[in-house]
Amino acid sequence: MAIKIDLQKQVFHLQTREASYVCGIVEGEYLAHFYYGKRIQSYNGSNAIAYIDRGFAPNPPGKPRTFSLDTLPQEYPCYGNGDFRQPAYQIEFADGTRVSDLKYETYNHNIGKSELAGLPATYPLESDTCETLTISLYDKIAKVRVILTYTVFEEKNMMTRHVRIINESTENLHLLRCLSMNIDFRDSDFELLTLYGAHNNEKNVERRQVNHQIQKIESSRGTSSPHQAPYFALLRKETTETQGDVYAFNFVYSGNFVAQVQQDHYDSVRVQMGINDFDFKWQLKPGQDFQTPEVVMSYTSQGLGASSRDFHQFYRHNLCRGHFKEKSRPILINNWEATYFDFEEKKLLEIAKKAQAVGIELFVLDDGWFGKRNDDTTSLGDWVVNEEKLPNGLNNLATSITGLGMEFGIWFEPEMISQVSDLYKQHPDWCLRIENREPTIGRGQLVLDLGNPEVINYLFNAITKILESAPITYVKWDMNRHLTDLGSAILPTIQQSEVVHRYVLGLYNLMERLTTKFSTVLFESCSSGGGRYDAGMLYYMPQTWTSDNTDAICRLSIQYGTSLVYPPVTMGCHVSTTPNHQVGRETPLQTRGVVAMAGNFGYELDVTKLEPTELAEIEQQIQHYKKYRDIFQFGDLYRLLAPTQANDAAWSMVSRDKEIAIVTYVKLLSLPAAPIKILKLQGLEETDIYEHTETGECFSGDELMNAGITVPRVKVDFHSQQWIFKKKQ
Ligand code: DGJ
Repeated sequence: MAIKIDLQKQVFHLQTREASYVCGIVEGEYLAHFYYGKRIQSYNGSNAIAYIDRGFAPNPPGKPRTFSLDTLPQEYPCYGNGDFRQPAYQIEFADGTRVSDLKYETYNHNIGKSELAGLPATYPLESDTCETLTISLYDKIAKVRVILTYTVFEEKNMMTRHVRIINESTENLHLLRCLSMNIDFRDSDFELLTLYGAHNNEKNVERRQVNHQIQKIESSRGTSSPHQAPYFALLRKETTETQGDVYAFNFVYSGNFVAQVQQDHYDSVRVQMGINDFDFKWQLKPGQDFQTPEVVMSYTSQGLGASSRDFHQFYRHNLCRGHFKEKSRPILINNWEATYFDFEEKKLLEIAKKAQAVGIELFVLDDGWFGKRNDDTTSLGDWVVNEEKLPNGLNNLATSITGLGMEFGIWFEPEMISQVSDLYKQHPDWCLRIENREPTIGRGQLVLDLGNPEVINYLFNAITKILESAPITYVKWDMNRHLTDLGSAILPTIQQSEVVHRYVLGLYNLMERLTTKFSTVLFESCSSGGGRYDAGMLYYMPQTWTSDNTDAICRLSIQYGTSLVYPPVTMGCHVSTTPNHQVGRETPLQTRGVVAMAGNFGYELDVTKLEPTELAEIEQQIQHYKKYRDIFQFGDLYRLLAPTQANDAAWSMVSRDKEIAIVTYVKLLSLPAAPIKILKLQGLEETDIYEHTETGECFSGDELMNAGITVPRVKVDFHSQQWIFKKKQ
């Protein structure tokens, strides 16, 4: 069993492949945290909580001065009952007070895992050992029940947590905070790793010491945002890519989030994650409940690489769903950087023909095909074909392209509305806005109120109509501004602060309906690139456009950071033109190719303008990618050199059976007196012999991993090399 319960001692011991997580009841009524770390066979209280009378630490009624919630390591701390650290939840009651006190009532232990109503969540496969523990806490004065849910995926080395709060009283109450996860670690010797960024510069790794303050990352933009990813890890100082403790946490949610780490005055560390409580207030009427999204968490002692590979496997198998979950993804060409808004049917067909000739499998028509959309100031919401650009209609274009032997895909930005649009004329009240206040414009557009079921139905029908009008097998779902003017025409005054979470729930509802109806369509999410790259979106759409920045050198660190948690197959990566449109850099086509092969491969440039030699090189890249597609998309990623550390980057993709390793090295600037680089491979069988396919030279796995391979010196900026090693039979 992955969950062991000692009824006598009232201890719950949860075990994954590498970790033990232990909590239990103290003083007969409080749920305390005992241990999280390397897996132990049994827990018998060797690290007993030391009860000490601390200054300014209040005591619950009837308890000795040595017992205070302010110093107790807890599972789900309340507000106002003696713990002055950050609470996990806070409720405003009908009388205006905000104090509550949870006591342990009961638990339940089940095999499997239930779905989370209306929310994305991980799920077990039949082959998984998966067990769920629910612990019910109750405030008998307020009549509020809090149910903590812990699921263990033992072999996957993963746990998930979420919380449900139920109003069992006869009065309305308001949730002011309701986080999904709280852990009180008993030591503070941690570094905190987070992923910060911006549009065109997503997922930069930031690592610093945990200290005596609240270190917090968050989004209050209505989406998970490019600015901070809903991910963090606690590491030890000595933790590297290949060794050391990693406690990693990721939120399965696409809206406002908060993750915070608080080292207290006695050097214990509280970590929390959940919906951002900033500007959040949720009404619960008698009998109603609130379901939080889930947090996925894992512990390994084997470094960041192992942590990432656990997340990759888990998300590929236990989060992503649908037809494309295990299927190879097609190599696509997208017309955005080739034409932007300036295209007509003839141009698109020319691009498609050239692309098909070099082996590209899917043509994606990006922004500009609908309404009167010739730039980004109009037409969002009017999902009817632009007949000036496509006078023969969408079906004609799509069938001409499928007639070439390619698939056809299309772009939408469903969540938005342009003020210059027919939809806005008909339904000015369908956007987020506050009466009598001019709304803020972002990229020339407003945001639809997805909390409004009428809006969801309109979008479902409009998108359905387009998808049924032509042979469309791929959808790019974009989202290019954040939420402001948080007012909804359909919510009463008291619920206006629910707008953002209701927006996210509406989005999930719409995506669930569309991805179910069009179950064989491949959906890719996008938010000006990686602006909403999160596990919530991956549940509905199994791939995401990683960044609008297509420069191969910038992509090294964007993809590196993204790969800490999200699998390579989920990362859209395209070869674009040179000089690059975002940063003006010129890089060799080979380097643009190998960097894009680190993810879900495609092209985004005007192939009709390329020289025959360039087209021939692209054809070769495509043949190469197709030959090893399964390894590029579903192999194990080993990060060998971090782009953030020196003048280069390297990684390898190793087939799951360890038969083939594809090693990629990219140098940045060509420098004088540069050191000779040796790459030490990872993930091979030590005693097996691997052949370098280009030279026929053979090496044992342990030689490649310990002695390493020498990178030849080439005096060219942004030069790259790739090696393929195959196990000798
Ligand atoms: C932002 C996306 O990230 C781009 O790839 C492109 O689709 C544009 N929007 C279109 O407006």
